[in-house]
Amino acid sequence: MTSEWWRTAAIYQIYPRSFADANGDGMGDLAGITARLADLAELGIDAIWLSPFFTSPQKDAGYDVADYCDVDPLFGTLTDFDAMVEEAHARGIRVIVDLVPNHSSDQHDWFQAALAAPVGSAERARYLFRDGRGENGELPPNNWESVFGGPAWTRVTEADGTPGQWYLHLFDSSQPDFDWTNEEVREEFRRILRFWLDRGVDGFRVDVAHGMIKADGLPDWSPAADAGSMGGGAEAEAVPAPYWGLDGVHEIYRDWRALLDTYPGERILAAEAWVDPLPRVAQWVRPDEMHQAFNFAYLETPWQSDALRRVIDDSIAAFAAVGAPSTWVLSNHDVVRHATRLALTEPNPQGHGVGPRTPGLGDPATGLRRARAATALMLALPGSAYLYQGEELGLPEVIDLQDDARQDPTWFRTNGERYGRDGCRVPLPWTASAPSYGFGPTDAAWLPQPASWASFARDVQRDDPASTLSLYRSLLAARRAHGLASGSLEWPLGETPEVLSFRNGDVVVVANTGSAPVALPAGEVLLASGPLDEASAQLPGDTTVWLRAA
Ligand code: GLC
Repeated sequence: MTSEWWRTAAIYQIYPRSFADANGDGMGDLAGITARLADLAELGIDAIWLSPFFTSPQKDAGYDVADYCDVDPLFGTLTDFDAMVEEAHARGIRVIVDLVPNHSSDQHDWFQAALAAPVGSAERARYLFRDGRGENGELPPNNWESVFGGPAWTRVTEADGTPGQWYLHLFDSSQPDFDWTNEEVREEFRRILRFWLDRGVDGFRVDVAHGMIKADGLPDWSPAADAGSMGGGAEAEAVPAPYWGLDGVHEIYRDWRALLDTYPGERILAAEAWVDPLPRVAQWVRPDEMHQAFNFAYLETPWQSDALRRVIDDSIAAFAAVGAPSTWVLSNHDVVRHATRLALTEPNPQGHGVGPRTPGLGDPATGLRRARAATALMLALPGSAYLYQGEELGLPEVIDLQDDARQDPTWFRTNGERYGRDGCRVPLPWTASAPSYGFGPTDAAWLPQPASWASFARDVQRDDPASTLSLYRSLLAARRAHGLASGSLEWPLGETPEVLSFRNGDVVVVANTGSAPVALPAGEVLLASGPLDEASAQLPGDTTVWLRAA
Protein backbone atom coordinates (compact mmCIF):
# COMPACT_ATOMS: atom_id res chain seq x y z
CA MET A 1 0.00 0.00 0.00
CA THR A 2 1.49 3.33 -1.02
CA SER A 3 0.31 6.86 -0.39
CA GLU A 4 1.32 8.09 -3.85
CA TRP A 5 1.89 11.46 -2.23
CA TRP A 6 3.08 12.95 -5.50
CA ARG A 7 -0.37 12.65 -7.10
CA THR A 8 -1.74 15.46 -4.97
CA ALA A 9 1.28 17.28 -3.56
CA ALA A 10 1.63 21.04 -3.43
CA ILE A 11 5.32 21.47 -4.27
CA TYR A 12 7.10 24.74 -3.51
CA GLN A 13 10.08 25.62 -5.68
CA ILE A 14 13.00 27.14 -3.81
CA TYR A 15 15.50 29.05 -5.90
CA PRO A 16 18.36 28.81 -3.38
CA ARG A 17 20.24 31.87 -4.60
CA SER A 18 17.27 34.09 -3.76
CA PHE A 19 15.37 32.42 -0.93
CA ALA A 20 17.21 33.25 2.31
CA ASP A 21 20.80 34.19 3.02
CA ALA A 22 22.13 33.04 6.40
CA ASN A 23 25.71 34.29 6.13
CA GLY A 24 25.06 37.75 4.70
CA ASP A 25 27.09 37.45 1.49
CA GLY A 26 24.11 38.41 -0.67
CA MET A 27 23.59 34.87 -1.97
CA GLY A 28 20.94 32.59 -0.48
CA ASP A 29 22.18 29.36 1.08
CA LEU A 30 21.14 26.02 2.55
CA ALA A 31 21.35 27.24 6.14
CA GLY A 32 19.00 30.06 5.14
CA ILE A 33 16.51 27.50 3.82
CA THR A 34 16.68 25.43 7.01
CA ALA A 35 16.01 28.53 9.10
CA ARG A 36 12.91 29.37 7.05
CA LEU A 37 11.30 25.93 6.84
CA ALA A 38 8.90 26.90 9.62
CA ASP A 39 7.47 29.57 7.31
CA LEU A 40 6.92 26.98 4.59
CA ALA A 41 5.28 24.57 7.02
CA GLU A 42 2.96 27.41 8.01
CA LEU A 43 2.16 28.05 4.35
CA GLY A 44 0.98 24.45 4.06
CA ILE A 45 3.04 22.86 1.30
CA ASP A 46 3.91 19.15 1.03
CA ALA A 47 7.33 19.26 -0.61
CA ILE A 48 10.08 21.58 -1.71
CA TRP A 49 12.05 21.40 -4.94
CA LEU A 50 15.45 23.10 -4.84
CA SER A 51 17.02 24.51 -7.99
CA PRO A 52 20.74 23.57 -8.21
CA PHE A 53 23.07 24.20 -5.26
CA PHE A 54 25.86 21.95 -6.59
CA THR A 55 29.47 22.94 -7.22
CA SER A 56 29.36 25.30 -10.16
CA PRO A 57 31.04 28.35 -11.66
CA GLN A 58 27.49 29.81 -11.77
CA LYS A 59 27.54 30.80 -15.42
CA ASP A 60 23.88 29.78 -15.64
CA ALA A 61 22.96 30.24 -11.98
CA GLY A 62 24.07 26.71 -11.09
CA TYR A 63 22.52 24.90 -14.07
CA ASP A 64 26.15 24.48 -15.09
CA VAL A 65 27.31 21.76 -12.71
CA ALA A 66 31.01 21.07 -12.12
CA ASP A 67 30.52 18.44 -9.40
CA TYR A 68 27.14 16.70 -9.16
CA CYS A 69 27.87 15.21 -5.75
CA ASP A 70 28.88 18.23 -3.73
CA VAL A 71 27.47 21.55 -2.55
CA ASP A 72 28.90 24.78 -3.92
CA PRO A 73 30.60 26.74 -1.11
CA LEU A 74 28.28 29.64 -2.02
CA PHE A 75 25.40 27.57 -0.63
CA GLY A 76 27.15 25.70 2.18
CA THR A 77 28.27 22.11 2.63
CA LEU A 78 26.91 18.59 2.43
CA THR A 79 26.49 18.77 6.19
CA ASP A 80 24.22 21.81 5.73
CA PHE A 81 22.31 19.83 3.14
CA ASP A 82 21.81 16.90 5.52
CA ALA A 83 20.62 19.27 8.24
CA MET A 84 18.16 20.87 5.84
CA VAL A 85 16.72 17.49 4.78
CA GLU A 86 16.44 16.36 8.38
CA GLU A 87 14.60 19.51 9.40
CA ALA A 88 12.29 19.34 6.37
CA HIS A 89 11.45 15.70 7.02
CA ALA A 90 10.82 16.44 10.70
CA ARG A 91 8.22 18.95 9.51
CA GLY A 92 6.65 16.49 7.08
CA ILE A 93 8.07 18.29 4.05
CA ARG A 94 9.64 16.17 1.29
CA VAL A 95 12.73 17.32 -0.55
CA ILE A 96 13.22 17.18 -4.34
CA VAL A 97 16.54 18.20 -5.87
CA ASP A 98 17.35 19.32 -9.40
CA LEU A 99 19.25 16.96 -11.67
CA VAL A 100 20.94 18.48 -14.73
CA PRO A 101 21.81 15.57 -17.05
CA ASN A 102 21.76 17.20 -20.48
CA HIS A 103 25.01 19.10 -19.97
CA SER A 104 27.69 19.76 -17.38
CA SER A 105 29.75 22.85 -16.72
CA ASP A 106 32.84 23.33 -18.84
CA GLN A 107 34.67 23.24 -15.49
CA HIS A 108 33.55 19.64 -14.83
CA ASP A 109 36.57 17.29 -14.59
CA TRP A 110 35.29 15.30 -17.53
CA PHE A 111 35.13 18.29 -19.81
CA GLN A 112 38.55 19.53 -18.75
CA ALA A 113 39.90 16.04 -19.47
CA ALA A 114 38.16 16.08 -22.85
CA LEU A 115 39.84 19.35 -23.76
CA ALA A 116 43.24 17.95 -22.84
CA ALA A 117 42.69 14.66 -24.66
CA PRO A 118 43.15 14.06 -28.39
CA VAL A 119 40.48 13.92 -31.09
CA GLY A 120 38.74 10.55 -31.03
CA SER A 121 39.61 9.81 -27.38
CA ALA A 122 37.33 8.22 -24.79
CA GLU A 123 37.42 11.52 -22.87
CA ARG A 124 35.93 13.40 -25.84
CA ALA A 125 33.33 10.69 -26.41
CA ARG A 126 31.48 11.69 -23.23
CA TYR A 127 30.51 14.96 -24.95
CA LEU A 128 29.55 15.89 -28.50
CA PHE A 129 32.79 16.94 -30.16
CA ARG A 130 32.74 17.15 -33.96
CA ASP A 131 35.00 18.42 -36.71
CA GLY A 132 33.94 21.74 -38.22
CA ARG A 133 32.73 22.25 -41.76
CA GLY A 134 34.53 24.37 -44.34
CA GLU A 135 37.98 23.89 -45.80
CA ASN A 136 39.80 24.13 -42.49
CA GLY A 137 36.99 23.15 -40.15
CA GLU A 138 36.36 26.81 -39.48
CA LEU A 139 32.55 26.54 -39.68
CA PRO A 140 30.36 24.92 -37.00
CA PRO A 141 29.41 21.28 -37.68
CA ASN A 142 25.75 22.26 -38.21
CA ASN A 143 23.45 25.27 -38.00
CA TRP A 144 21.89 24.67 -34.56
CA GLU A 145 21.32 27.67 -32.33
CA SER A 146 21.70 27.88 -28.59
CA VAL A 147 18.51 28.33 -26.55
CA PHE A 148 20.18 31.40 -25.07
CA GLY A 149 20.98 32.86 -28.52
CA GLY A 150 23.95 32.53 -30.88
CA PRO A 151 25.44 29.30 -32.27
CA ALA A 152 25.16 26.02 -30.34
CA TRP A 153 28.79 25.17 -31.09
CA THR A 154 32.10 26.47 -29.78
CA ARG A 155 35.48 25.69 -31.29
CA VAL A 156 38.28 24.54 -29.01
CA THR A 157 41.99 25.11 -29.21
CA GLU A 158 43.81 21.78 -29.24
CA ALA A 159 46.63 21.00 -26.83
CA ASP A 160 49.19 21.92 -29.52
CA GLY A 161 47.67 25.41 -29.87
CA THR A 162 45.92 24.85 -33.22
CA PRO A 163 42.21 25.58 -33.81
CA GLY A 164 40.48 22.29 -33.28
CA GLN A 165 37.13 20.52 -33.00
CA TRP A 166 33.83 22.02 -31.97
CA TYR A 167 31.60 20.95 -29.06
CA LEU A 168 27.82 21.16 -28.86
CA HIS A 169 26.06 23.25 -26.23
CA LEU A 170 22.31 23.66 -26.58
CA PHE A 171 22.59 26.33 -23.86
CA ASP A 172 25.56 28.53 -22.91
CA SER A 173 29.06 27.80 -24.23
CA SER A 174 29.93 26.98 -20.59
CA GLN A 175 27.38 24.10 -20.70
CA PRO A 176 28.69 21.32 -23.01
CA ASP A 177 26.08 18.64 -23.85
CA PHE A 178 26.82 15.07 -22.80
CA ASP A 179 26.65 12.26 -25.35
CA TRP A 180 23.88 10.12 -23.87
CA THR A 181 24.54 7.29 -26.31
CA ASN A 182 27.71 6.67 -24.29
CA GLU A 183 27.20 4.02 -21.59
CA GLU A 184 29.80 5.69 -19.38
CA VAL A 185 27.58 8.78 -19.14
CA ARG A 186 24.60 6.61 -18.23
CA GLU A 187 26.52 4.82 -15.51
CA GLU A 188 27.79 8.08 -14.06
CA PHE A 189 24.25 9.41 -13.70
CA ARG A 190 23.11 6.20 -12.00
CA ARG A 191 25.88 6.87 -9.49
CA ILE A 192 24.69 10.47 -9.03
CA LEU A 193 21.09 9.37 -8.52
CA ARG A 194 22.20 6.85 -5.88
CA PHE A 195 24.35 9.45 -4.14
CA TRP A 196 21.36 11.72 -3.48
CA LEU A 197 18.89 8.91 -2.87
CA ASP A 198 21.24 7.54 -0.22
CA ARG A 199 21.26 11.00 1.39
CA GLY A 200 17.49 10.82 1.70
CA VAL A 201 16.09 12.96 -1.10
CA ASP A 202 12.50 12.25 -2.09
CA GLY A 203 12.97 12.86 -5.78
CA PHE A 204 14.48 14.71 -8.69
CA ARG A 205 13.25 17.43 -10.99
CA VAL A 206 14.97 16.54 -14.25
CA ASP A 207 16.30 19.53 -16.17
CA VAL A 208 15.81 19.60 -19.96
CA ALA A 209 14.34 16.09 -19.85
CA HIS A 210 13.44 16.41 -23.53
CA GLY A 211 16.94 17.20 -24.79
CA MET A 212 19.36 14.42 -23.97
CA ILE A 213 19.18 12.47 -27.23
CA LYS A 214 20.09 14.14 -30.52
CA ALA A 215 19.16 12.86 -34.01
CA ASP A 216 21.76 10.62 -35.66
CA GLY A 217 24.17 12.62 -37.78
CA LEU A 218 23.20 15.91 -36.06
CA PRO A 219 21.36 17.23 -39.16
CA ASP A 220 20.88 20.95 -39.85
CA TRP A 221 17.55 22.36 -38.71
CA SER A 222 15.79 25.68 -39.03
CA PRO A 223 12.89 26.46 -36.73
CA ALA A 224 9.78 27.71 -38.51
CA ALA A 225 8.96 30.46 -36.07
CA ASP A 226 10.13 31.66 -32.71
CA ALA A 227 7.65 29.84 -30.55
CA GLY A 228 9.63 30.14 -27.32
CA SER A 229 13.13 28.96 -26.88
CA MET A 230 12.62 25.62 -25.19
CA GLY A 231 10.78 23.79 -27.92
CA GLY A 232 7.24 24.63 -26.86
CA GLY A 233 5.27 25.21 -30.02
CA ALA A 234 6.82 22.18 -31.71
CA GLU A 235 3.40 21.47 -33.17
CA ALA A 236 3.92 24.44 -35.43
CA GLU A 237 7.18 23.02 -36.76
CA ALA A 238 6.97 21.26 -40.13
CA VAL A 239 10.17 19.39 -39.28
CA PRO A 240 10.57 18.64 -35.57
CA ALA A 241 13.75 19.81 -33.83
CA PRO A 242 16.44 17.11 -34.05
CA TYR A 243 17.18 17.47 -30.34
CA TRP A 244 13.85 18.01 -28.53
CA GLY A 245 11.78 15.06 -27.41
CA LEU A 246 13.40 12.25 -29.39
CA ASP A 247 12.12 8.76 -28.56
CA GLY A 248 15.50 7.66 -27.23
CA VAL A 249 15.12 9.75 -24.06
CA HIS A 250 12.45 7.43 -22.72
CA GLU A 251 14.68 4.40 -22.20
CA ILE A 252 16.84 6.57 -19.92
CA TYR A 253 13.86 7.33 -17.69
CA ARG A 254 12.75 3.70 -17.62
CA ASP A 255 16.21 2.84 -16.37
CA TRP A 256 16.09 5.57 -13.69
CA ARG A 257 12.59 4.59 -12.60
CA ALA A 258 13.73 1.02 -12.04
CA LEU A 259 16.62 2.36 -9.97
CA LEU A 260 14.37 4.65 -7.89
CA ASP A 261 11.94 1.82 -7.28
CA THR A 262 14.67 -0.13 -5.47
CA TYR A 263 14.55 2.56 -2.75
CA PRO A 264 11.87 2.66 -0.06
CA GLY A 265 9.56 5.63 0.36
CA GLU A 266 8.23 6.60 -3.08
CA ARG A 267 11.02 8.67 -4.55
CA ILE A 268 9.91 10.55 -7.63
CA LEU A 269 11.05 11.90 -10.99
CA ALA A 270 9.50 15.09 -12.42
CA ALA A 271 10.23 16.06 -16.02
CA GLU A 272 11.00 19.48 -17.35
CA ALA A 273 9.96 18.62 -20.89
CA TRP A 274 8.99 21.57 -23.08
CA VAL A 275 7.19 19.60 -25.77
CA ASP A 276 3.67 19.71 -27.04
CA PRO A 277 0.87 18.80 -27.47
CA LEU A 278 -0.07 17.43 -24.04
CA PRO A 279 -0.41 13.76 -25.09
CA ARG A 280 3.26 13.98 -26.01
CA VAL A 281 4.19 15.36 -22.60
CA ALA A 282 2.27 12.42 -21.10
CA GLN A 283 4.81 10.04 -22.68
CA TRP A 284 7.25 11.12 -19.95
CA VAL A 285 4.88 9.81 -17.26
CA ARG A 286 3.93 6.43 -18.64
CA PRO A 287 3.72 3.90 -15.78
CA ASP A 288 7.35 2.79 -16.04
CA GLU A 289 8.85 6.26 -16.56
CA MET A 290 8.59 9.43 -14.51
CA HIS A 291 5.90 10.32 -11.97
CA GLN A 292 5.18 13.88 -13.01
CA ALA A 293 5.80 16.23 -15.91
CA PHE A 294 5.47 20.00 -15.71
CA ASN A 295 2.37 21.26 -17.44
CA PHE A 296 3.81 24.17 -19.41
CA ALA A 297 0.76 24.23 -21.68
CA TYR A 298 -1.19 25.33 -18.60
CA LEU A 299 1.43 27.90 -17.64
CA GLU A 300 1.31 29.36 -21.14
CA THR A 301 -2.48 29.66 -21.32
CA PRO A 302 -3.81 33.22 -21.23
CA TRP A 303 -6.28 34.33 -18.56
CA GLN A 304 -9.26 33.53 -20.69
CA SER A 305 -12.07 31.20 -19.72
CA ASP A 306 -12.45 29.08 -22.86
CA ALA A 307 -8.71 28.60 -23.34
CA LEU A 308 -8.40 27.62 -19.69
CA ARG A 309 -11.28 25.20 -19.87
CA ARG A 310 -9.72 23.55 -22.93
CA VAL A 311 -6.26 23.19 -21.41
CA ILE A 312 -7.66 21.84 -18.14
CA ASP A 313 -9.71 19.21 -19.97
CA ASP A 314 -6.86 18.33 -22.30
CA SER A 315 -4.42 18.04 -19.40
CA ILE A 316 -6.59 15.77 -17.31
CA ALA A 317 -7.39 13.58 -20.33
CA ALA A 318 -3.81 13.34 -21.57
CA PHE A 319 -2.30 12.44 -18.21
CA ALA A 320 -5.18 10.14 -17.18
CA ALA A 321 -4.67 8.20 -20.41
CA VAL A 322 -1.35 6.99 -18.99
CA GLY A 323 -2.52 6.74 -15.38
CA ALA A 324 -0.64 9.85 -14.22
CA PRO A 325 -1.91 12.88 -12.34
CA SER A 326 -1.92 16.21 -14.09
CA THR A 327 0.36 18.86 -12.69
CA TRP A 328 -0.31 22.59 -12.66
CA VAL A 329 2.11 25.47 -12.58
CA LEU A 330 1.96 29.22 -13.16
CA SER A 331 5.46 30.45 -12.34
CA ASN A 332 9.06 29.26 -12.08
CA HIS A 333 12.60 30.62 -12.35
CA ASP A 334 12.50 30.64 -16.18
CA VAL A 335 9.31 32.58 -16.90
CA VAL A 336 7.89 36.03 -16.23
CA ARG A 337 6.13 35.91 -12.85
CA HIS A 338 2.41 35.39 -13.36
CA ALA A 339 1.50 38.56 -11.44
CA THR A 340 3.12 40.44 -14.33
CA ARG A 341 2.63 37.97 -17.17
CA LEU A 342 -1.16 37.78 -16.93
CA ALA A 343 -1.46 41.52 -17.57
CA LEU A 344 0.90 41.65 -20.60
CA THR A 345 -0.83 42.97 -23.68
CA GLU A 346 1.81 41.85 -26.21
CA PRO A 347 3.13 38.33 -26.91
CA ASN A 348 6.24 37.46 -24.88
CA PRO A 349 7.95 34.17 -25.85
CA GLN A 350 9.32 32.08 -22.98
CA GLY A 351 12.85 33.10 -22.04
CA HIS A 352 12.71 36.57 -23.57
CA GLY A 353 11.71 38.22 -20.31
CA VAL A 354 10.52 41.78 -19.79
CA GLY A 355 12.36 45.00 -19.07
CA PRO A 356 12.01 48.76 -19.28
CA ARG A 357 11.83 48.75 -23.09
CA THR A 358 9.24 45.94 -23.36
CA PRO A 359 6.00 47.10 -24.99
CA GLY A 360 2.59 46.21 -23.52
CA LEU A 361 3.58 45.70 -19.88
CA GLY A 362 0.02 46.21 -18.64
CA ASP A 363 -1.26 47.38 -15.29
CA PRO A 364 0.38 45.85 -12.16
CA ALA A 365 -2.86 45.98 -10.12
CA THR A 366 -4.68 44.02 -12.84
CA GLY A 367 -1.77 41.60 -12.94
CA LEU A 368 -1.93 40.91 -9.23
CA ARG A 369 -5.74 40.54 -9.25
CA ARG A 370 -5.48 38.03 -12.11
CA ALA A 371 -2.58 36.21 -10.48
CA ARG A 372 -4.57 35.71 -7.28
CA ALA A 373 -7.60 34.56 -9.27
CA ALA A 374 -5.48 32.25 -11.41
CA THR A 375 -3.87 30.65 -8.35
CA ALA A 376 -7.28 30.19 -6.72
CA LEU A 377 -8.36 28.39 -9.88
CA MET A 378 -5.21 26.28 -10.07
CA LEU A 379 -5.35 25.13 -6.46
CA ALA A 380 -8.89 23.85 -6.97
CA LEU A 381 -7.82 21.45 -9.71
CA PRO A 382 -7.19 17.73 -9.18
CA GLY A 383 -3.52 16.77 -9.33
CA SER A 384 -0.23 18.17 -8.08
CA ALA A 385 0.49 21.90 -8.05
CA TYR A 386 3.83 23.67 -8.22
CA LEU A 387 4.37 27.06 -6.58
CA TYR A 388 7.41 29.26 -7.16
CA GLN A 389 8.93 31.11 -4.23
CA GLY A 390 7.58 34.63 -3.88
CA GLU A 391 4.32 34.06 -5.72
CA GLU A 392 2.69 33.58 -2.29
CA LEU A 393 3.69 37.20 -1.65
CA GLY A 394 2.18 38.35 -4.96
CA LEU A 395 5.60 39.40 -6.22
CA PRO A 396 5.65 40.92 -9.68
CA GLU A 397 8.52 40.50 -12.14
CA VAL A 398 11.23 43.10 -11.45
CA ILE A 399 11.18 45.08 -14.68
CA ASP A 400 13.59 47.94 -14.07
CA LEU A 401 16.79 46.08 -13.22
CA GLN A 402 19.78 48.11 -14.36
CA ASP A 403 21.49 46.69 -17.41
CA ASP A 404 24.72 46.22 -15.49
CA ALA A 405 22.96 44.21 -12.76
CA ARG A 406 21.65 41.59 -15.19
CA GLN A 407 23.25 38.13 -15.05
CA ASP A 408 21.22 35.78 -17.23
CA PRO A 409 23.37 34.39 -20.09
CA THR A 410 20.41 35.10 -22.37
CA TRP A 411 21.01 38.83 -21.87
CA PHE A 412 24.67 38.55 -22.87
CA ARG A 413 24.25 36.08 -25.72
CA THR A 414 21.61 38.27 -27.40
CA ASN A 415 23.46 41.55 -26.71
CA GLY A 416 20.60 42.75 -24.57
CA GLU A 417 17.93 42.03 -27.17
CA ARG A 418 16.28 39.57 -24.75
CA TYR A 419 16.16 40.58 -21.09
CA GLY A 420 16.07 36.96 -19.93
CA ARG A 421 15.04 35.66 -16.55
CA ASP A 422 16.66 37.81 -13.87
CA GLY A 423 13.42 39.67 -13.17
CA CYS A 424 11.82 36.60 -11.56
CA ARG A 425 14.94 35.73 -9.55
CA VAL A 426 15.33 38.76 -7.29
CA PRO A 427 15.93 37.81 -3.61
CA LEU A 428 12.78 37.50 -1.50
CA PRO A 429 11.55 40.12 0.98
CA TRP A 430 10.90 38.68 4.46
CA THR A 431 10.90 41.71 6.78
CA ALA A 432 9.86 45.17 5.57
CA SER A 433 12.11 47.18 7.85
CA ALA A 434 15.29 45.04 7.78
CA PRO A 435 18.34 45.35 5.52
CA SER A 436 17.77 43.42 2.26
CA TYR A 437 14.17 43.17 3.51
CA GLY A 438 15.30 40.32 5.72
CA PHE A 439 16.69 38.23 2.86
CA GLY A 440 19.89 38.14 4.90
CA PRO A 441 21.52 39.87 7.84
CA THR A 442 23.21 42.51 5.64
CA ASP A 443 21.98 44.68 2.81
CA ALA A 444 23.72 42.52 0.21
CA ALA A 445 21.60 40.89 -2.50
CA TRP A 446 23.04 39.35 -5.68
CA LEU A 447 20.30 41.08 -7.71
CA PRO A 448 19.10 44.46 -6.41
CA GLN A 449 15.71 44.45 -4.69
CA PRO A 450 13.38 47.32 -5.66
CA ALA A 451 12.19 49.77 -3.01
CA SER A 452 8.63 48.53 -3.54
CA TRP A 453 9.69 45.14 -2.07
CA ALA A 454 8.98 46.44 1.47
CA SER A 455 5.25 46.36 0.86
CA PHE A 456 5.46 42.71 -0.26
CA ALA A 457 7.47 41.52 2.76
CA ARG A 458 6.22 38.40 4.48
CA ASP A 459 6.00 40.03 7.90
CA VAL A 460 3.57 42.72 6.73
CA GLN A 461 1.41 40.12 4.99
CA ARG A 462 1.37 37.50 7.73
CA ASP A 463 -1.44 38.95 9.84
CA ASP A 464 -3.32 40.77 7.11
CA PRO A 465 -6.33 38.64 6.13
CA ALA A 466 -6.54 40.38 2.75
CA SER A 467 -2.89 39.71 1.85
CA THR A 468 -1.77 37.38 -0.91
CA LEU A 469 0.08 35.30 1.68
CA SER A 470 -3.14 34.82 3.68
CA LEU A 471 -4.93 33.86 0.48
CA TYR A 472 -2.32 31.19 -0.36
CA ARG A 473 -2.44 29.82 3.18
CA SER A 474 -6.25 29.59 3.08
CA LEU A 475 -6.28 28.07 -0.40
CA LEU A 476 -3.75 25.38 0.53
CA ALA A 477 -5.59 24.55 3.76
CA ALA A 478 -8.98 24.35 2.03
CA ARG A 479 -7.51 22.36 -0.89
CA ARG A 480 -6.39 19.79 1.66
CA ALA A 481 -9.52 19.89 3.84
CA HIS A 482 -11.81 19.33 0.84
CA GLY A 483 -9.57 16.76 -0.84
CA LEU A 484 -9.60 18.79 -4.06
CA ALA A 485 -6.26 17.45 -5.31
CA SER A 486 -7.64 13.91 -5.38
CA GLY A 487 -11.07 14.95 -6.66
CA SER A 488 -12.51 15.20 -10.14
CA LEU A 489 -14.17 17.94 -12.11
CA GLU A 490 -17.80 18.24 -13.16
CA TRP A 491 -18.55 21.00 -15.58
CA PRO A 492 -19.72 23.31 -16.95
CA LEU A 493 -22.17 24.56 -14.40
CA GLY A 494 -24.02 26.86 -16.77
CA GLU A 495 -22.60 28.81 -19.69
CA THR A 496 -21.67 32.43 -19.06
CA PRO A 497 -19.11 34.05 -21.37
CA GLU A 498 -15.79 34.75 -19.64
CA VAL A 499 -16.75 32.57 -16.68
CA LEU A 500 -15.31 29.20 -15.81
CA SER A 501 -17.26 27.18 -13.29
CA PHE A 502 -16.98 23.64 -12.09
CA ARG A 503 -17.62 21.43 -9.15
CA ASN A 504 -14.90 19.41 -7.44
CA GLY A 505 -16.37 17.29 -4.63
CA ASP A 506 -18.22 19.57 -2.25
CA VAL A 507 -16.71 22.76 -3.65
CA VAL A 508 -18.02 24.87 -6.51
CA VAL A 509 -15.41 27.07 -8.16
CA VAL A 510 -16.33 30.09 -10.25
CA ALA A 511 -13.65 32.15 -12.00
CA ASN A 512 -14.57 35.38 -13.75
CA THR A 513 -11.83 35.99 -16.32
CA GLY A 514 -13.60 39.04 -17.77
CA SER A 515 -13.43 42.57 -16.44
CA ALA A 516 -17.16 43.13 -15.80
CA PRO A 517 -18.92 41.70 -12.72
CA VAL A 518 -21.17 38.67 -13.14
CA ALA A 519 -23.85 37.22 -10.89
CA LEU A 520 -22.42 35.38 -7.90
CA PRO A 521 -24.11 31.99 -7.56
CA ALA A 522 -25.93 31.29 -4.31
CA GLY A 523 -24.11 29.38 -1.62
CA GLU A 524 -21.73 29.80 1.30
CA VAL A 525 -18.52 31.50 0.22
CA LEU A 526 -15.50 29.50 1.39
CA LEU A 527 -12.85 31.67 -0.18
CA ALA A 528 -12.42 34.43 -2.71
CA SER A 529 -9.31 35.68 -4.48
CA GLY A 530 -10.40 39.30 -4.03
CA PRO A 531 -13.14 41.44 -2.47
CA LEU A 532 -16.71 40.32 -3.25
CA ASP A 533 -19.83 42.38 -3.22
CA GLU A 534 -22.00 39.83 -1.43
CA ALA A 535 -24.81 42.32 -0.76
CA SER A 536 -25.45 42.75 -4.47
CA ALA A 537 -24.41 39.14 -5.19
CA GLN A 538 -21.75 40.10 -7.73
CA LEU A 539 -18.51 38.37 -8.62
CA PRO A 540 -16.14 41.12 -9.82
CA GLY A 541 -13.91 40.71 -12.87
CA ASP A 542 -10.60 38.86 -12.51
CA THR A 543 -11.82 37.10 -9.38
CA THR A 544 -12.24 33.44 -8.40
CA VAL A 545 -14.54 32.22 -5.66
CA TRP A 546 -14.91 28.85 -3.92
CA LEU A 547 -18.43 28.07 -2.64
CA ARG A 548 -19.75 25.17 -0.64
CA ALA A 549 -21.76 23.01 -3.06
CA ALA A 550 -25.49 22.96 -2.33
C1 GLC B 1 16.32 24.51 -17.65
C2 GLC B 1 16.41 25.37 -16.42
C3 GLC B 1 16.98 26.69 -16.81
C4 GLC B 1 18.37 26.46 -17.37
C5 GLC B 1 18.34 25.47 -18.52
C6 GLC B 1 19.70 24.96 -18.84
O1 GLC B 1 15.42 24.99 -18.54
O2 GLC B 1 15.15 25.47 -15.83
O3 GLC B 1 17.00 27.60 -15.76
O4 GLC B 1 18.92 27.66 -17.81
O5 GLC B 1 17.58 24.33 -18.21
O6 GLC B 1 20.15 24.09 -17.84
